[in-house]
Amino acid sequence: MPYTLSVNGRTTTVDVPADMPLLWVLRDVLDLKGTKFGCGMAQCGACTVHLDGEATRACVTPVGSVGSARITTIEGLSPEGTHALQRAWMNNDVPQCGYCQAGQIMSAAALLARTPKPTDADIDTAMAGNICRCGTYTRIRKAIHEAAGTRQAEGIALPVITDARS
Ligand code: FES
Ligand code: FES
Repeated sequence: MPYTLSVNGRTTTVDVPADMPLLWVLRDVLDLKGTKFGCGMAQCGACTVHLDGEATRACVTPVGSVGSARITTIEGLSPEGTHALQRAWMNNDVPQCGYCQAGQIMSAAALLARTPKPTDADIDTAMAGNICRCGTYTRIRKAIHEAAGTRQAEGIALPVITDARS
């Protein structure tokens, strides 16, 4: 069935089953490979994209449910890869293997859009659903603060996040 989608500011039509996860549409039909498959069960956050600015797990979002919502993927976050979060991610050497990082950045971007200067608690709450097997949580938090322009970005040591999820 044809669906007309708004993806990264462009309108495109795909002919796919209604129950196909948005993640497969993005990766396999539209060749937007930046969004990753991790668990397929809304448990890891690797597939996070935005629907009308809200962080959404694309692996459990049937394309038939998307409607006219604006879809933003990591490729569409900024045309040149220069979103404040992407710059902060580079400044802080956040990624290790990198697999989870697109999802991390998309969740962080949704957070900053609604909370421009988040606290550590805000960050931990917003990012709780994004798993990093490499344990980059401390750098993620620091990079979010940097992107937000907070004082924590100016070299003040942040507490180590101990997290059994990794
Ligand atoms: S692949 Fe979607 S949350 Fe893990
Ligand atoms: S950087 Fe390897 S899983 Fe997060």
